[in-house]
Amino acid sequence: MINYKEIVDIIKKSKYMIAFTGAGISAESGVPTFRGKEGVWEKHGSQFAEIDYFLKDQEDSWKSLKKVFYEPLKDTKPNMAHIVLAKLERMGLLKAVITQNIDGLHQEAGNKIVYELHGTAKYAICMKCKTKYRMTEDILSLSPPKCEECGGILKPNFVFFGETLPSIELQNSMEDASKSDLCLIVGTGGEVMPAARIPYIAKQNKAKIIEINPKPSNYTDDIVDIYVEEKAGIAFSEMDKYL
Ligand code: OAD
Repeated sequence: MINYKEIVDIIKKSKYMIAFTGAGISAESGVPTFRGKEGVWEKHGSQFAEIDYFLKDQEDSWKSLKKVFYEPLKDTKPNMAHIVLAKLERMGLLKAVITQNIDGLHQEAGNKIVYELHGTAKYAICMKCKTKYRMTEDILSLSPPKCEECGGILKPNFVFFGETLPSIELQNSMEDASKSDLCLIVGTGGEVMPAARIPYIAKQNKAKIIEINPKPSNYTDDIVDIYVEEKAGIAFSEMDKYL
């Protein structure tokens, strides 16, 4: 039996709690995860999200990007896990969400401090002049979209294979992890470096680690103190009863 009251008591006593999230937190909102049989990479391959391929054939790459990332994101809404994390921030208990997700659902739920380690699907960026555009149906209808300012190539503003992570987000995440005394790991397998290091930095600072994931991850047997074997939406709904 999972003792949600005990978990909430630990959260309430914490001084600097962070949440490290991955695709699993958005699964109950209808966003597909990456790995496993039904995962994005298994179903569609990953070539279209490699920067070298994108530069060679933007038209083909954009076709897959729309199908794989943008169509599933239409009409998605935050679920209870996002909503309760936003409540925890408003209560002053959660200092930062560090996410690998590109779906913008943490911000939509109301979190203000969100470090998007893999960027965001909500914007496109010109690869030449770096102008950013809010992603719209109009942009998505072009094949491939071009920058209105300079005619350069527009790319979704998230990290492709072969690209580096945004340095300010990474720096801020590492700083917050090294200050934290409690780290919630939610819905990530912990497979992709350097993002996957964040909970280890927290652990080095002697932070307590609570993981919420229906399946064990790379962290579970390694650094996790309390493992909540449950879907994020359900677990956070239960926790909410004691907040
Ligand atoms: P993965 O697809 O690798 O892992 C998803 C995790 O979510 C797994 O551990 C699942 O068990 C868990 N999960 C599934 N449903 C869940 C639910 N309802 N509640 C909680 N957990 C659930 O996704 P990530 O770990 O986020 O990077 O992948 C990390 C990075 O790999 C992504 O950001 C992406 C990918 O390559 C880039 O594209 C740069």
